[in-house]
Amino acid sequence: MFCDVYSVGMNTLNDTILVTGGAGFIGSNFVLTWMKAEGAAVVNLDLLTYAGNAANLESIASDSRYTFARGDICDAGLIGALLGRHRPRAIVHFAAESHVDRSIVSPEAFVRTNVMGTFTLLEQARSYWAELDEAGRAAFRFLHVSTDEVYGTLALGDPAFSETTPYAPNSPYAASKAGSDHLARAYFHTFGLPVLTTNCSNNYGPFQFPEKLIPLMILNALEGKPLPVYGDGMNVRDWLFVEDHCAAIRKVLEAGSPGETYNVGGNSERANIDVVTTICDLVDQLRPRAGAEPRRKLITYVKDRPGHDRRYAIDASKITRELGWKPAEQFENGLRKTVRWYLDNAEWVNSVRSGVYRDWIAKNYAERVSA
Ligand code: NAD
Ligand code: DAU
Repeated sequence: MFCDVYSVGMNTLNDTILVTGGAGFIGSNFVLTWMKAEGAAVVNLDLLTYAGNAANLESIASDSRYTFARGDICDAGLIGALLGRHRPRAIVHFAAESHVDRSIVSPEAFVRTNVMGTFTLLEQARSYWAELDEAGRAAFRFLHVSTDEVYGTLALGDPAFSETTPYAPNSPYAASKAGSDHLARAYFHTFGLPVLTTNCSNNYGPFQFPEKLIPLMILNALEGKPLPVYGDGMNVRDWLFVEDHCAAIRKVLEAGSPGETYNVGGNSERANIDVVTTICDLVDQLRPRAGAEPRRKLITYVKDRPGHDRRYAIDASKITRELGWKPAEQFENGLRKTVRWYLDNAEWVNSVRSGVYRDWIAKNYAERVSA
C-alpha cells in the first residue's frame, strides 16, 4: 500500500494522482474505481470536449478527495500549476481524441491533442520530476494509456499483437497515438522520466459515448433505428470490459517497471456482426416489443470505413506473467451488464446526445447509406 507522503524535505510527493481525461469513458470508470480501491485523492484535468461529461463523476463530485480542473493538456502553464499545487505521485494520462471515424473526417484535432498534448504533459512532468528529491524521483510514475491500433491490422490466423510487434498505424487516430507512444518512450530513454505505457484493446461498459460501436448499436436497437454495420461485418475486435482495464492500470501503476510497455486485452475476439446480433438478442430479451420483428432485422450493411483494420487481437501474456493481471469478465456477461446499464440510464443517454452529437451522426452515416 502507498503511504501519504513519499519523501521528506522541500520536494515531497503526496499520495494524490493526476488523471487526464477523467471525464471520458475509460477515465471516469478509472477515477470511480480508483477512489473505491485506493481511497487516495484524485485531481482530474479534462477539457470536457464533446466526449467528456462531468456527470459521469457525479457520485464523487462532493468527495473532499476529488478535485476537478477544467482545462487543456496543451496548456503548459495550467499543468505546471496543478503539479506544483497538488504534488501528485503519478500522472495517469487518458486524455485524447479517441474516435477513428472522426480522425478520418477531421484529423487535425488528433495531432493537436494526442501528439502536442502528450508532449506538453511529458515536458511539464519532466520539469516537476527533475525538482523532486531522490526518493520522490524514484517513486513518481507517468502512465501513458494507449491502444492496440498502433500495431496496425492482423489477418485471421496471425498471432496476436505482443509488446514487440512493430508499429504500423493505419488511421490518423492510430498514427497520433503512435506518435504519443514514441514521445513517452523517448522521455524514459533520454531523460529517465519513469514512464509506463499500456496498449489495450477495445473497451466496452458504462459511460461510453454512443458514437462507438457497442453503445450506438444498443441505443439504435432500443429505438428501432437501423443498425449500420460497416463493410461485411467480419472485422474482429478483442473486447475488454472497462473495469478489467482499470484494474490492469492499477496493477501497472503499482508494480510495473518504468520504461516498459504492457499489452492489455480481453481475450474475447468477436466479429462485429456477432457483437451486433448479440446486442439485438439482449435488447429483445430486456425490452420485448409485442408483435414487432426481432431487432436483428434492423441490421443494415453500410459503406465501409476507409482503411478499416481487419482484426485486432492482444497477447496479454506479459502483464499476466509479470504482474498477475488477467481479465475477469466474460464477454457475453459483460455485454449483458452493459446493455442493462444503457437501458437503465436514459437520463445520462439524453444528456450526452446533444445537437453536436446529432450533427456527427447525421454526417457520418449520411454518406454510408449503401453497402
Ligand atoms: P473518450 O473520448 O471517451 O474520452 C476522452 C476524454 O479526454 C474526454 O473526457 C475529453 O473531454 C478529454 N479530452 C480530450 N481532449 C482533451 C484536451 N485537449 N485536454 C484535456 N482533456 C481532453 O476516450 P476513451 O475511450 O475513454 O479513451 C481514453 C484513452 O484510452 C485514450 O487515450 C484512448 O486513446 C485510449 N484507448 C481507448 C480505447 C477504447 O476502446 N475506448 C481502447 C484503447 C485505448
Ligand atoms: O482497439 C482500440 C480502439 O478501439 C481504441 O483505441 C479507440 O479509441 C476506440 O474507439 C476503438 O476503435 P474502433 O475503431 O475499433 O472502435 P469503434 O467502436 O469505432 O468500432 C468498432 C468496430 O465496429 C470497427 O470495426 C468499426 C465497426 N463499426 C463502428 C461503428 C461506429 C461499425 O460497423 N459500425 C459503426 O457504426
